[in-house]
Amino acid sequence: MIPENIKRGNFGSRFGFVLAAAGSAIGLGNIWRFPYVAAENGGGAFVLLYLVFILGIGVPVIIAELSVGRASQKNPVGAFRALAPGSWWPAIGGIGVLTGFGILSFYSVVAGWTLGYIVKTLKGDFLGGITGEESGAAFDAMSQTAWVTILLTAIFMLLTILVVRGGVSKGIERAAKILMPVLFVLLVFLAVRAVTLPGAGEGLRHLFSFEYEKITIQVVVKALGQAFFSLSLGMGAMITYGSYLQRKENLTVAGATVAGFDTLIALLAGVIIFPALAAAGVDPESGPPLVFVVLPTIFDSLPMGNLFGLAFYVLLAIAALTSTVSLLEVVVSYFIDERGWRREVATWTFGGLCLLLAIPSALSQGAVPWLSEFMGMGFQTLLETIFADYSLSVGGVLICVFVGWRWGIDPALEEIRRSGDRFALAPLWRILIMVVCPLAIAIVLGFTLWSQFWGA
Ligand code: PHE
Repeated sequence: MIPENIKRGNFGSRFGFVLAAAGSAIGLGNIWRFPYVAAENGGGAFVLLYLVFILGIGVPVIIAELSVGRASQKNPVGAFRALAPGSWWPAIGGIGVLTGFGILSFYSVVAGWTLGYIVKTLKGDFLGGITGEESGAAFDAMSQTAWVTILLTAIFMLLTILVVRGGVSKGIERAAKILMPVLFVLLVFLAVRAVTLPGAGEGLRHLFSFEYEKITIQVVVKALGQAFFSLSLGMGAMITYGSYLQRKENLTVAGATVAGFDTLIALLAGVIIFPALAAAGVDPESGPPLVFVVLPTIFDSLPMGNLFGLAFYVLLAIAALTSTVSLLEVVVSYFIDERGWRREVATWTFGGLCLLLAIPSALSQGAVPWLSEFMGMGFQTLLETIFADYSLSVGGVLICVFVGWRWGIDPALEEIRRSGDRFALAPLWRILIMVVCPLAIAIVLGFTLWSQFWGA
C-alpha cells in the first residue's frame, strides 16, 4: 500500500531514534512543569496518579502513535489520510499540528528564560548570598522586561529553527546523540547533591507521601495532562518520530524505553527541586517561576554553587531544545509532506510565525498587565491549559479510538510485529487501547467539564 522505499529521512539506528524521541519527551515538561504542577496539586497524590497514567495510558498510547507513524511513513495529517482514506480523520491530525504550534509558542518563552539564567550565572548574579525574595525579584526583573523576554524567546526560536532546518538524521539525531547522555549524567549529579541539603527529608516526604484526601478532579486532570505533555503524546509528535523509525526496529521496546527515561528524569527533577524548595522555605505554589526562583538560592548556598547553577541551566536549555525541535518538526513535516514545501522555507516560516504567537505569552508575566491577567489566569497559562492539559488529552482519546476501532488493532499489531518481535503483551495492549485508555481519559475529561460548568 505504501512504498517501502519512500524517500524520507531515517534514523540511523534504534539508539539514535530512542535518543531523539527521548529528547522530545524529556524537556521543560519534566524539569520545569512537573515540579511546579506537582507542588500545586497535592505532591505525592499527584505523583502517584502521574505514574499510574504513564504506565497505564502513556506507554500503550506511545506504542500506538509510533505504529501509526511507521505504518504510514507520514506526518500526523498524512498518517490519518493514508490509513483511513476519505474519512474526516486527517482533521484530527490537523488539530495535532495546531497543538504543536500552540505548545511551541509558550514553551519557547520558558526556554528563553533558561538562556537568561545561563547569562545570569555567567555574570555571577547569584554569587555572594541571595535570599528567596531577591531571587524572585531577579526573576521578575527579567520576565517583566519586555525586550529582554522577547529577545530570549527569539534566540531560542532561532536555535530551534537552525536544528530543524538540518533535517532529521543530520540535525535532530546528531544533536540528541551528544546532548541527551550529558543531560542524564548532570541530573543524577544534581540529584545526589540535592538530597544531601539540609531539610531534604521534608521535601522528599512532600514529593512521595501519598495522601488520599488530596485527590481532586483537578489533580487527576492535571496528572493526566502532564503524563501526555511529558511523553509528547496526543498531538502527533510520536507519529512523526515513528515515521522516521526503521521497519526492523522493535517499536514496543523503543516506546517503553522512552517512557522509562522520561519518567526517571521527571522524578529526578522532583528529587532535585523538592528538597531545594523545602530548604529555601519558598512557597511551593509559586507557579511557573518556581524552578527559576528557588534554585539560585540553593546554588548560592553550595560550594561551587555558580558552576552547579550554570550546569543546571545549560542542561535545561539543552533539554528544552530537543523538545522544541520535535514540536517544530511536526508542523514542518506536515507542510513538507502534504503541501510540498521545501524544508528550509517551511522551517523559517513557521518558526517565525510561532515567534509572533509567543510574544503575548512572553509579555504575560507582568510586562503587560492585561495580558498577565488575561481571562483570570494570564495568556501563557491559558495557552498551557488549553494545549497541554486539554488538547493533548483529547488527542489521546482520538488516537486510541483511531487505532482501536478505525485503522484496527490487527493492522497495528502487524505493523508492530514487522520487526520480527512477538510482542507478548499484545492481548493486554489490545484491551488497553480499545477500551480502558479511551474510557479512562474520556471519564476524566467528562468529570472536568461537568465540575467546571455545574459543579464544585
Ligand atoms: N514532552 C516535552 C517536555 O516534556 C514537551 C512536548 C510536548 C514536546 C508535546 C513535544 C510534544 O518538555
